[in-house]
Amino acid sequence: MALWRKHCARDDPSVDLSKDRPYLRPMAILPILEVPDPRLKTISKPVESFDDDLKTLVNDMIETMYAAPGIGLAAIQVGVPKRLLVIDLQDEEAEGEEPVRNPRIFVNPEILDPSDEHSLYNEGCLSVPDQYAEVERPAQIRARWQDLDGKVHEETMTGLMATCLQHEMDHLEGILFIDHLSRLKRQMVLKKIEKARKMGGGHVHGPDCRH
Ligand code: NI
Repeated sequence: MALWRKHCARDDPSVDLSKDRPYLRPMAILPILEVPDPRLKTISKPVESFDDDLKTLVNDMIETMYAAPGIGLAAIQVGVPKRLLVIDLQDEEAEGEEPVRNPRIFVNPEILDPSDEHSLYNEGCLSVPDQYAEVERPAQIRARWQDLDGKVHEETMTGLMATCLQHEMDHLEGILFIDHLSRLKRQMVLKKIEKARKMGGGHVHGPDCRH
């Protein structure tokens, strides 16, 4: 998931992420699939082996998410149809300071108790470049997932975390945030992306970064 404010965040390629995790091989930034790539409609399969390949994939996904920059990424967005996602909301409240990195990993996530109360967020998606729209989702959920060792966790989520987790979990079902919009709005978004690509694709961010 991408937020419009995130989209303008500092993206410093000189930051060496592997320093935080020195026991790992250098991580790789993976190409992100974009609409209308049909692979984004895949229903992802449960993760069954909690092995080194899974850890490698997760670390590459985390690096890819930070580099984009985004606050969440599902495995299918890098072409891997597994029920796996990474999220880091990277709170940037303290302006001028480096956001604290705290990536969270969700393997085989499930939503247990979506609340009747809904909330509205301006969502974006790394697979739907430069497009943002308000989406309504349950304001609170109970989430259950496994970690990289297969251990099961449960937690109640609210606010942006609840929204982001639901956005990423939609990817596991082949659903994008634009699928929550009216058909007309969705077509408009897809046309804008097509047009931007025809113009050469290079989106330049203005100083206030309004789209
Ligand atoms: Ni997304």
